[in-house]
Amino acid sequence: MPGYAVIGGQWGDEGKGKIIDFLAGRVDAVVRYGGGSNAGHTVVNDKGTFQLHMVPSGICWPGVAGIIGNGVVVDADVLLGELSELNSQGIDTSALYVSERAHVIMPYHVLLDELEEKARGDAAIGTTGRGVGPAYVDKTGRMGIRVGDLLDIEGTLRPRLEQALAFKNALITKVYEHEPLSIKDILDKCSEWAERLAPHIQATEQTIQDLLAQDKAVLLEGAQGTLLDIDHGSYPYVTSSSPSIGGACVGLGIPPQAISGVVGVFKAYSTRVGGGPMPSEIFGDTAEGLREIAHEYGTTTGRPRRIGWFDAVAARYSNQVNGMTGVVLTRLDILDGFPSVKVCVGYQVNGKAIDRFPSNTSLLAQCEPIYEEHPGWTEPTASATGISQIPANAMSYVRRIEELIGCPIQIISTGPSREETIEVTRVIP
Ligand code: IMP
Repeated sequence: MPGYAVIGGQWGDEGKGKIIDFLAGRVDAVVRYGGGSNAGHTVVNDKGTFQLHMVPSGICWPGVAGIIGNGVVVDADVLLGELSELNSQGIDTSALYVSERAHVIMPYHVLLDELEEKARGDAAIGTTGRGVGPAYVDKTGRMGIRVGDLLDIEGTLRPRLEQALAFKNALITKVYEHEPLSIKDILDKCSEWAERLAPHIQATEQTIQDLLAQDKAVLLEGAQGTLLDIDHGSYPYVTSSSPSIGGACVGLGIPPQAISGVVGVFKAYSTRVGGGPMPSEIFGDTAEGLREIAHEYGTTTGRPRRIGWFDAVAARYSNQVNGMTGVVLTRLDILDGFPSVKVCVGYQVNGKAIDRFPSNTSLLAQCEPIYEEHPGWTEPTASATGISQIPANAMSYVRRIEELIGCPIQIISTGPSREETIEVTRVIP
């Protein structure tokens, strides 16, 4: 039962989309297990450049099914928009399936995301504003609307929506003093979604279990990153799902034994969007220079990403949470030409040096990085396709990161396209 997971090792935006696209040609299905349209996966290949928020990143490979699992919260407008865009570029999306158990992001979720963030003031999380958090709140609170409910408008959807909307409108009008939302408008939208999504809706848990039982390879596509995990991230500055490996079993309906490999994707430096502590964050010319070279702006929101050196304390923690069998290091080329590069190898807090990632967010916010400085390299790694093309200083930086994470590096990415990839050891046989 070969399932291979690709997991974000940091705060998201590690380049998972590119890696999934690179690996997807070797599997029968690419399946998303969590998050929603807050994700922004960029795929660059011979068919074009694609920014995908809902559709799994293997969609460009013919014969590879794309599955949105039960753990995902679905923005149907975004999903349908992406399907139309892909179709207009000649990409077949007929093998795209959505779990009937996945929850729907409703218009009131998007509105509440915005109203709640405003109300938080200085303590705002910096969400992507896509309604993802409020949709998961309703899922856990047993007030959610599932994709399958769209197929039974009068029997299931209408009564559930009436109940949910009465509650939401009370909140929207009385707490936030905003205009209420109309049930008619929402039902009209749901009817349109139902009609267009119907051919794609199925019990995907069974589909995935069947694929695994037939020994077909399945690629599990993580969204966001382990340090944004609702349980294991820097709470409350996290997303509302479990991007780490545990979320994959729950979000797809598969047992842990089905997962043969867990590949952690890390950028060669750190970025974070939104609020919350980031011990190795840097400011000033180096940060701004790196942001511009790397175009570190959010795919979903366009916000400038915060920049930092590689944080090996956080990366090792991430490995522990996920039990990684291999690491992918992306964007090494961005560091080309820097006179030196730093790696955070410990934290200094309250007069003590620690090498563990604290669970207490206030403590994490007080952590000062302890750096190791490595000489930079002038020869480019950009577009390198073999280890022999990597300059010696860059290679010793890579090896040091590998040692600090405690897991072998299997892939080094040296640019956005499929070809700009060095596979040190094969990830999927
Ligand atoms: P939410 O997931 O929109 O609720 O946002 C919660 C936090 O997670 C915010 O700090 C977001 O910036 C961050 N976040 C959510 N999705 C992503 C992502 O795909 N990449 C990077 N950060 C993300």
